[in-house]
Amino acid sequence: MRFDEYVEEALYGPSGFYSSGRGIAGRRGGDFITSPEVGPLFGALIGRWLDQQWAQLGEPDPFRVIDLGAGPGTLVKAIERSDLRCGDVLQIGAADIATNAELPDDLSGCVIIANELLDNIPFQWLRSGDRLESAWVEGGQLGWKPVEDPQPQIEAVGEFPWIQQAASLVQNLLDRGASRLLAIDYGAETTAELADRGGWLRCYRGHHRNDDPLYQAGEWDITTDVPIDQLPTPAQVRTQADFLSELGLQELVDEGRAYWNDHAASPDLKAFEMRSRTNEAPALTDPDGLGAFFAMEWRTP
Ligand SMILES: C[S@@+](CC[C@H](N)C(=O)[O-])C[C@H]1O[C@@H](n2cnc3c(N)ncnc32)[C@H](O)[C@@H]1O
Repeated sequence: MRFDEYVEEALYGPSGFYSSGRGIAGRRGGDFITSPEVGPLFGALIGRWLDQQWAQLGEPDPFRVIDLGAGPGTLVKAIERSDLRCGDVLQIGAADIATNAELPDDLSGCVIIANELLDNIPFQWLRSGDRLESAWVEGGQLGWKPVEDPQPQIEAVGEFPWIQQAASLVQNLLDRGASRLLAIDYGAETTAELADRGGWLRCYRGHHRNDDPLYQAGEWDITTDVPIDQLPTPAQVRTQADFLSELGLQELVDEGRAYWNDHAASPDLKAFEMRSRTNEAPALTDPDGLGAFFAMEWRTP
C-alpha cells in the first residue's frame, strides 16, 4: 500500500495507534507532551486569542468554537476555566476521529483551533531524482514507485512529505464556512527547507522518538513536520513563542507570580496554578521545542 495508506492504517485503522486508545498526550503515561498538556497557561492564552476573534467578528452570540483533533480535551477544559470576555456566549466543543466526536456539518461563523493536528494527517513520502517517486510499504519493506497523477507542484530536492490530505482538510474547513482557523504545529515555511534539513518524519511513543515508521506498526505515532507552503496560504504565520508573547504571556506570568506572593502563606489550588505559570512559560516558548512551532491563521472573508 502507498505510504499514506500505511499511515492511515497504523494510526486510525482497527488496531491503530489512535483508534485503539494508545496515543495519549500527557505527562505521565502519555506518549508526547503538547502545549495544552504543559499546563493551563496555554489555554488561558488561546482564550485571549478567542476574545480577540470574538471582538473582530462583531461579538457573535453564540460564539461557536471547535477544538479539532482535541485528543483528551485538555485545551477545551483550560479555555472553559479561563476568565474570558466571550465566556457567557462561548459554545466550545471538541472533535476527534479517535473518539468519534464529529465535526458539525455547518461550520458557518465557527472558529476552529487545531493544535498538533496537521502533523498527524496521513501524508505521502516523496523523493525527487530522475523522476518523482512515492514510498510504498509492501511485505514489511519500503519501496518506491512513480507518483501517480495528479502530480504535486512542489519544488524540492531530496525526500519530503506531501501533505495533500492536510491541505484538503484546511480548504474544506474554510469552504464550509469557518471564519477563523488557528493551526499550531511543528514544520517549516517551505518543503525545500524540510528536504534539505531532513528528520521531518517523526515517530513517537512513551516520550521516545524513533524515525523508522515501519518499526512496530500501530504501536507508534507517525507524524511529519508540516511544510506550510503546501497548505492554502495562511493570512498570518509566526512562531508559537512570538504568537504567545503577542497574546500577553509575560503579563499572565507576572499576574501568576503576584497572586502566588499574596497567597503563599496559605495557598489554595488557584495559587499553585498561578505559580506554575512561571515554569510553563519557558516550556511553551522554548526555541528548541514548542516555541519554534508555527502558529498559522486563516481568516474568511
Ligand atoms: C497529536 S494529537 C493532538 C491532541 C491535542 N490537540 C493536543 O494538542 O494535545 C492529534 C489528534 O488528532 C486527531 N486526529 C487526526 N486526524 C483527525 C481528523 N481528520 N479529524 C479530527 N481529529 C483527527 C487524533 O486522533 C489525535 O487525537
